[in-house]
Amino acid sequence: EKGTYPHYMLKEIDEQPSVVRKIIQAYENEQGELAIDPAIAEALHEADRLYIIAAGTSYHAGLVGKEYFEKIARIPVEVHISSEFGYNMPLLSEKPLFIFITQSGETADSRQVLVKIKELGYPTLTITNVPGSTLSREADYTMLLHAGPEIAVASTKAYVAQVAVLAIAAYVEAKSQGIAVNFDLKKELAIVANAIQSIVDSKEVFEFASKDYLSTTRNAFFIGRNMDYCVSVEGALKLKEISYIQAEGFAGGELKHGTIALIEEGTPVIALVTQKSVSLNIRGNVKEVTARGANPCIISMEGMEQEGDAIVLPQVHPLLTPLMSVVPLQLISYYAALYRGCDVDKPRNLAKSVTVE
Ligand code: M6R
Repeated sequence: EKGTYPHYMLKEIDEQPSVVRKIIQAYENEQGELAIDPAIAEALHEADRLYIIAAGTSYHAGLVGKEYFEKIARIPVEVHISSEFGYNMPLLSEKPLFIFITQSGETADSRQVLVKIKELGYPTLTITNVPGSTLSREADYTMLLHAGPEIAVASTKAYVAQVAVLAIAAYVEAKSQGIAVNFDLKKELAIVANAIQSIVDSKEVFEFASKDYLSTTRNAFFIGRNMDYCVSVEGALKLKEISYIQAEGFAGGELKHGTIALIEEGTPVIALVTQKSVSLNIRGNVKEVTARGANPCIISMEGMEQEGDAIVLPQVHPLLTPLMSVVPLQLISYYAALYRGCDVDKPRNLAKSVTVE
């Protein structure tokens, strides 16, 4: 039930702090430490490469997951769009583990890959929000998202849950390998939950998101580098699907290799600045587009904010910023769709779970 909320999407955005807290609890052992099913830990341990297979927003969560498994657990990862992978399989490693990320657990494009992979005899893990769903039943292992039912077509809390569960899997795997991890993920996730809470409660974020920034534009760009790039493609998808504004997520440095030709007077460019190592580079990219007339919106994080930034997010661990920086993008999309009179929860031409290939 959406209760007093005008839309499921807004309710689900607001639920994100509690989803993160619920996931911490769900993946805690009796000693209060983060833990995963030992059989899954073993499968991760055995694998020489992970293949993440997913569609849409779940694919975008997979891009962040790759960063986690490679940076925290040092396992090489490939992330693939399911509809492409099944019909054009890349050369596989000797001991692959396939990870299917799917909110619904019913996406036909992902299922056709699972069926083929099972025929080949490789181990499979499904990360899903729906216990008993097709992909959960058919895979060897399941990790649940614990996000509660997601009704709005635009995925919000499931993305945050997917990223959090991927972080936990990578972290627990790294620890069990004796890899030195210099942070306490449980503590850092609790900080993230509070940060998301402060964003959904923030007057400043609400005022920015609900103003007319995207009310009449034909197109918009989202740019970022590193982890921020992973989130910018998700921000663009969210805006496209519910507001019908043509939007593109770009790696900041790539714009000048062609796409910058599209920047005109007033083109909105939303830039994420949460990664210290590339913060100057991305600010440079913002300058490049601003000089060509773009109307920039900078979303930065405490510690690297500058005057004129539209939104300054609270500080969280640099690897966990996607869990937080996606939230203002969700809100910006939500209010843009409202502004333009779109059906937020049921955008045209889309279904919540895509059960055809
Ligand atoms: O249920 P799944 O996670 O497998 O769904 C995948 C995509 O269809 C889904 O994420 C879609 O892109 C959403 N509408 C995005 O908001």
